[in-house]
Amino acid sequence: MPTLFDAYQIGALSLPNRFVMAPMTRRRAADGKVPTELARLHYAQRASAGLIITESIEVDPFSGLKGPTRPGLFTDAQQQGWQAVTEAVHDKGGRIFAQLSHMGRGAHSSQLEAGGRVVGPSSIAAAGNIYTVNGPVPFETPVKLDIGEIAVVVGQYAEAARRAKAAGFDGVELHGANGYLIDQFLRDASNQRSDTYGGSAEKRAQFLLDIFEAVSTHWPASSIGVRVSPTNNFQGMSDSDPVSNFETIAALLSPLGLAYLHVVEPAVQPDGLPYVAIAIRESFDGPLILAGKYDQASAESALLEGKADLIAFGEKFLANPDLPERFRRGAQLTPPDKATFYTDGAAGYTDYPALAD
Ligand SMILES: Cc1cc2nc3c(=O)[nH]c(=O)nc-3n(C[C@H](O)[C@H](O)[C@H](O)COP(=O)(O)O)c2cc1C
Repeated sequence: MPTLFDAYQIGALSLPNRFVMAPMTRRRAADGKVPTELARLHYAQRASAGLIITESIEVDPFSGLKGPTRPGLFTDAQQQGWQAVTEAVHDKGGRIFAQLSHMGRGAHSSQLEAGGRVVGPSSIAAAGNIYTVNGPVPFETPVKLDIGEIAVVVGQYAEAARRAKAAGFDGVELHGANGYLIDQFLRDASNQRSDTYGGSAEKRAQFLLDIFEAVSTHWPASSIGVRVSPTNNFQGMSDSDPVSNFETIAALLSPLGLAYLHVVEPAVQPDGLPYVAIAIRESFDGPLILAGKYDQASAESALLEGKADLIAFGEKFLANPDLPERFRRGAQLTPPDKATFYTDGAAGYTDYPALAD
């Protein structure tokens, strides 16, 4: 029976344990969206994870927040910054995938680089507010991407994937979760298209499949993971039938031989939300990662019950750089300090203590 401490194989990559460090945006990149020396240290400190997945990395030069914030992977300087990160993680014996992302309608015009636009699969604004420098304001109505513009975005993912390889990553994760652009295409409340990219679950998945194919020119399928969040309503997301939608998506991905499917779904769902991961597990023949408020007991149960092959931990890894060792020893966990999730500098980033040897 598998435990968190058992090895696992993803393609050519041997993981010494089943702990995944979940992708976590920390908004600490330098000007030019370049990862810093602190990012190098932050990830190297967490190299005992079976697999690290980076914070979401922008593929679109015009999208994303201005100034020191989310990192990108579309310039040489960014690539060099990431290379320093991957080398540091490898030096510590770790493995690291780059999470590639595009904000789509989750961006705000006040925060775009010159030439940037708020775009989406359809001209439908996300429900709720976005937090800007001027405080919370309603999400904007995105410009609907036309077929030619979709091809450009697909090309941006491919270019970031090429750079990820050059920067020494072990693979890439396509961020299809949490209301980012791929997720906006996958779910029907944000995608009301009637062309090749909308109208049915299969068609809504076409954008993801196009990206997967384009990224496959630089990586074997077994080095490309996909993250989804079928019922997460972050950034105003929803879907009329998440079970059947994501069952279909999982079945479409299954024959591609991808590295893994990474599903954000807590072990205990909030009231009224369906359990979609079980249906996904049945439709998807490949490695499955589950993420969402897992602790040691619920993670071990999910592995034992065959619900997942690996478990991703977010906040616990953020606050405990040596999380596998803490679980192994039954040591106390440091609680995460939410006040420093998105602030600048080392505080709450590289100063969480490891256990004394
Ligand atoms: C500070 C913070 C930043 C996050 N940023 C991302 C991100 O960039 N990409 C992503 O897919 N999920 C992101 N997440 C979600 C986590 O990957 C994870 O799914 C979530 O925290 C639930 O796992 P947990 O309960 O173990 O923390 C973030 C979570 C936190 C706490």
